[in-house]
Amino acid sequence: MCGIVGYIGKKKAFPIIVNGLKRLEYRGYDSSGVAILDKEHNLNVYKKKGKVIEMEAFALANNIEGNIGIGHTRWATHGEANDVNAHPHINTDGDIAIIHNGIIENYNALKKALEQRGYQFRSQTDTEVVAHLIDDIQKNVQVDLAEAVRLALNEVVGAYAIVVISKKEPDKLVVAKMSSPMVIGFGDGELYVASDGSPLIEHTRRVSYIEDGQMAVLHLNGEIEIKSLKDNVVQNPYIEELSISLEAIEKGGFEHFMMKEIHEQPQAILNSIRGRMSLEQMKISLGGINKFESSFKNAERIIIVACGTSWHSGLIGEYLIEELARVNVDVEYASEFRYRNPVLSEKDIVIAISQSGETADTKAALELAKQKGAFIYGICNVVGSSIARMTDAGSYTHAGPEIGVASTKAFTTQVSILVLLALQLAELRGTISSPKLNEFLNELDLLPAKIEKILESDSYIKEIAEVFQDSSNFLYLGRGFNFPVALEGALKLKEISYIHAEGYPAAEMKHGPIALIDKNMPVVVLAPNCQHYEKVISNVEEVKTRKGRIIAVVTEGDTEVEALAEYVIEIPNTLEALSPILSVVPLQLLAYHIAVMRGCNVDQPRNLAKSVTVE
Ligand code: AGP
Repeated sequence: MCGIVGYIGKKKAFPIIVNGLKRLEYRGYDSSGVAILDKEHNLNVYKKKGKVIEMEAFALANNIEGNIGIGHTRWATHGEANDVNAHPHINTDGDIAIIHNGIIENYNALKKALEQRGYQFRSQTDTEVVAHLIDDIQKNVQVDLAEAVRLALNEVVGAYAIVVISKKEPDKLVVAKMSSPMVIGFGDGELYVASDGSPLIEHTRRVSYIEDGQMAVLHLNGEIEIKSLKDNVVQNPYIEELSISLEAIEKGGFEHFMMKEIHEQPQAILNSIRGRMSLEQMKISLGGINKFESSFKNAERIIIVACGTSWHSGLIGEYLIEELARVNVDVEYASEFRYRNPVLSEKDIVIAISQSGETADTKAALELAKQKGAFIYGICNVVGSSIARMTDAGSYTHAGPEIGVASTKAFTTQVSILVLLALQLAELRGTISSPKLNEFLNELDLLPAKIEKILESDSYIKEIAEVFQDSSNFLYLGRGFNFPVALEGALKLKEISYIHAEGYPAAEMKHGPIALIDKNMPVVVLAPNCQHYEKVISNVEEVKTRKGRIIAVVTEGDTEVEALAEYVIEIPNTLEALSPILSVVPLQLLAYHIAVMRGCNVDQPRNLAKSVTVE
């Protein structure tokens, strides 16, 4: 989850690395650091707790020269966030520096063995062991840095993307990867390395993804050697073009990425459905399904694995696929699925949903499903991400980079893809009539414009936020397709405003949470037109009777809920199965405004990171 950047070439390394770290800060932001090799081969290390900008100011008090360097922005796993635990970590002599993303699972055993050999540790991190291990190997065997890194990593168990620099070999960076993302950028006689493409695009679009179990030596003359950690040479790296634009990773006039991304949803949905459905031909065509029609047609069960917001969209996927295509669907937390020896067969399809495509638990769940012979399908946003590359087939959401830690456009585009998938499956299996399919396609087509309309309510939603900004708890209620939206609304609020919030199926309220309701409890009720509308009204009545403060999301023109609720946010009418794509938008805005009013860092909430690459 940490961000790593490295540069080797003719330019000044420090500004390139610091700007890169700022672009990667969404991956982790509790501390950061750089190590720069100057012309006299001094290894200058600057580390600081806090944001990259604080480390930059601290480092700039010195004259930082040098055209080789590495940098890191941290999301703490082992050891609290402080200056000492920040990366890079160095060996005792101070000639080797290392940055690392991931977890060294056997670090305790390695640390004990190194301590017995006289090594003293400065930090509480797992990473520091690798610096000493490389040092130890080089002191005992006559090998160069790359070989020492390779030998060291053969002793390491865990996940890592690492970059190592040494003042004894001041013309190279050594990088290696196992289960954590790493991309190499090819400039003109210079090389870059980073956790993802965002720090690279202003320098180069030519990139290559290092595979798990591989390492690379990046040379000052722009040459690169790749080999496996088992010491087999890998011929010429496969070079691809990065397609993301610089605009897409900047705030574009919005105060926060989250607000920009909320506003990007109409376009993002358009991008996710474009070319995949045709109103004229009344057809859906998801490339990933077309190639494997028989697997989908004959599937006996679909298992969706995901985490967080992606798990919420998976729940909506369950409602959609079961309703439209009549296939049994189970939705699993990836972290639970992978450890409970699930029953899987070759007739099962496992769908992984992940914005980043790098979530460690989701990856591990997929690996397990693969071992058990299931067909694997991916719904990812980040092109070329690990999950996208390990699946048999899949569909990108095409939402564009999502940088705010709280997912917004990732959710609505994932649900859009799930709608298409459910419809195509229904067509294949003959469980949908032509008029119904037609109705769905027409309504899907109208969604972007309907979201634009909801965005016009922003200032009204801000007024509601002002009223409730000091609440300590929130309850979110929804039924059917809107139950997962209640979960998602609650997650949005808690992750960025730190207010405790719970999402519940509206009818479950009376089995416990109703005890929480009093005159201080805001209750957000999702009550758009739906088959259970009358039942939702009864639930709203139950809240009102207990003096709960009701904020309701309703379909335009609704009068019944309006009569009961303190605040009513209207969304345009649509099919019930599509309503989550609309009803979630006011909840995103409400969470956003409350968080801003409470002075929270909306894009980088405490303790969180955008892509969770550790278990
Ligand atoms: C959402 O707002 C969260 N930040 C988080 O729950 C996220 O959805 C989860 O970590 C899964 O990430 P992924 O979609 O990249 O796999």
